[in-house]
Formats: sequence, structure tokens, C-alpha cells
Amino acid sequence: METLRLSDSQIADFQNTVLKKGEELYREMPWRTDTRPYYVLLSEIMLQQTQVPRVLQKFTQFVEEFPTLESLATADFQQVLALWSGLGYNRRAKFLHQAAKYIVDKGAFPTEESELVKCPGIGENTAASIVVYAYNKPLVFLETNVRTVLIYSFFQNRTEKIDERILKDVAQRVLYTENPRKWYWALMDYGTELKKTVGNFNKFSQKHTTQSRFEGSFRQKRAATLRLLLHNGPLALDELAEQQNYSHELIQEIVASLQHDALITEINGRFCIVS
Ligand code: ADE
Repeated sequence: METLRLSDSQIADFQNTVLKKGEELYREMPWRTDTRPYYVLLSEIMLQQTQVPRVLQKFTQFVEEFPTLESLATADFQQVLALWSGLGYNRRAKFLHQAAKYIVDKGAFPTEESELVKCPGIGENTAASIVVYAYNKPLVFLETNVRTVLIYSFFQNRTEKIDERILKDVAQRVLYTENPRKWYWALMDYGTELKKTVGNFNKFSQKHTTQSRFEGSFRQKRAATLRLLLHNGPLALDELAEQQNYSHELIQEIVASLQHDALITEINGRFCIVS
């Protein structure tokens, strides 16, 4: 595999720059002030596809309602989903609820990446980020802000996509192991700043995707159907189609996809949110 040449002094300079930026741009967040594993898990799942300002609001509401992982694990899914609404990508509410149940069942919050990836919805990068923030362990992970900083700092002249493994190798070599938590907070805040000032460099990342348009999309109709069931369910297929003016084919497709993600279930010919 191709690797980037980096001298010790280049690494030290980069670390100093990032840490300095981190101090300058530091944003206070409840899951940074209080790094208990539950707060870290909740915030990382929320932050997967939603930006910090919206997460800040929801996070506070969430921990007021469910102050502990145990209270979340024993809650009704309907209640979790109701609280999640507005954040989008509702599948994450299910993953979060399942993760809470899995961890509470285990008896202790995992301190290893390999345990966390067993939770649905938690991939390698999210698992590592949780271990970093909760336990300050020196693990490598890539996420959008990390990629932005690395590409901006080391791959500016690239015109082709940069292999994920090359980025990870660089991330490993520059990692500030003395305080990984502080390091990644700095990368998050610096990355956010770079996106605002110099633009998004992630188009040169292999993993670069953009969120598809929500208005008028299948995703929007699916979310609307879920909301309808949350507030007015159980409802039959015909009722769901009629109330939203969707074709029979469309509502069938939506319902199948919601069932597939274990968000809804059918009882006696009517659909409702799973409990
Ligand atoms: N602080 C901790 N995790 C974060 C994330 N995923 N994005 C921004 N700031 C964070």
C-alpha cells in the first residue's frame, strides 16, 4: 500500500497546529463536559447524520427523559421514537434502543471496540470514537471532520480520490496519544471550521457522500408514515394510503421497509410501532 512520507517534525508540527486550533475553536458540549459512556454513545449516534446544533437540543431533552442507559433500555420503543423525531434517520432510534438493551443485558458498558461493534448500527468508526471519548484510549477512527483535516493538511494537491486505508494510516501516525479525547475534539472543531472557511475537502475521500434531498423523497414519505402511526396508529394499509394520498404500491413499499427495519409491526391486519 502507498503510504505518505512524514517526518517526525512534520508530525509534531501537525499535532501542534491541531491542538492550538482545538483550543481556539473549542465548543462546549454536554457530552464533552460529562464523558460518561452513556452520554458518549447517545451523542455519537445522534451525530452520525445530524449536525451539532440540532443534536445539542435533542440531547438535552433525551437525557432529561432517559437519564441513564438503564432507563433507556427499559423504555417503550414508542417513547424513544417520539423523542427522536425531528432528528431524522429514525433507524438510529431503533439501533440506539437495541444497543442500550444489549449493554444493560451484558451488565457493563463495553470498553473495547470489538464489543461495541456487536451493537446494531455501530460500525467500526463509531465504536472506536465511543471508546476514545468515553475512556480516552488512543484508537484510530475516521469520520467526516477527521477526513477534512487530514485531506486539507496532507493531500491538498490530490485530484483523485484518496484510499480510506491511506487516510487511516496517516491518522494512526499523527494520533496524539497523550490525550486522544482532546485530540479528536480538536479535529472535530478544526474540521468544522475548515468546512466553513475553505470548503469541503471530503470530495477527495472515497467515503464521500452527500445527503439526498429530503423533500418529496421516499425517506420523507417513510418518515411521515412512521409519524402517522406513532400518533394515530394502529392503522390498516388502506387507511395509511388514503390519509396520505399515497398509491397502494407506494404504501406497500414504505410499510415493507419500516417492517424490515423493525420499526413497525402488523397485528391483526393493522400496523403499529413496535413496542
Ligand atoms: N464531540 C464529540 N463527538 C463529536 C462529534 N461526533 N462531532 C462533533 N463534536 C464532537
